[in-house]
Amino acid sequence: MMQPYEPDHSTTIRILPATEEHLPALAELAGIIWRQHYPGIISDAQIEYMLAKMYALDTLGEEIRAKGIQFVRLLAGGRFVGFTSYGPTSEPGVMKLHKCYLLPEMHGRGHGSSLLQHCARAARKLGTRRMILAVNKQNTKAITAYHRNGFNITESVITDFGEGYVMDDYVMAKDLFS
Ligand SMILES: CC(C)(COP(=O)(O)OP(=O)(O)OC[C@H]1O[C@@H](n2cnc3c(N)ncnc32)[C@H](O)[C@@H]1OP(=O)(O)O)[C@@H](O)C(=O)NCCC(=O)NCCS
Repeated sequence: MMQPYEPDHSTTIRILPATEEHLPALAELAGIIWRQHYPGIISDAQIEYMLAKMYALDTLGEEIRAKGIQFVRLLAGGRFVGFTSYGPTSEPGVMKLHKCYLLPEMHGRGHGSSLLQHCARAARKLGTRRMILAVNKQNTKAITAYHRNGFNITESVITDFGEGYVMDDYVMAKDLFS
């Protein structure tokens, strides 16, 4: 006898807000992703330095509470596998995408694009006309994903993170109403 059709929910993708209660899991996820993705792009010492600086719970909490930065989670089958964050800049109408990270095994399935489209939609609703981001010049996978989603390189910047660590980045931008 035929079994009734059982939909497979194991890969159901959901994009949901992240609030302060999600920050410990988000910081842990960032550590896993950074330690797999960034070797070869920046040194192991710089990875650890930047994780400690950028993903300390106080730093992330302050971004939500005081800087108007929104965090977003991507869940696959209920598992927290990726996140983005975006927030206002000093220029009215310009939003910055601060973070966009997926576990390596989740790359190449269009989930990064889904996160970027989600942020662009949310930003448009807030009256944003332009989104910008910074990406390491050697991070070709991310640069390709950003190009695929309508971002173009506008300038090169070297950002100083202290203690001799810098990020050699491209700034990329996308006009949301064009
Ligand atoms: C940046 C990042 C989020 C992009 O995610 P991604 O999965 O690599 O990119 P996309 O979501 O655009 O996926 C596109 C790929 O999925 C494939 N794909 C499969 N199903 C798809 C679908 N339904 N829709 C779109 N693309 C799909 C495309 O063919 C493409 O494959 P290709 O890369 O072999 O050409 C991801 O690479 C990442 O987390 N990188 C590490 C962290 C990082 O560097 N972040 C950026 C810091 S600035």
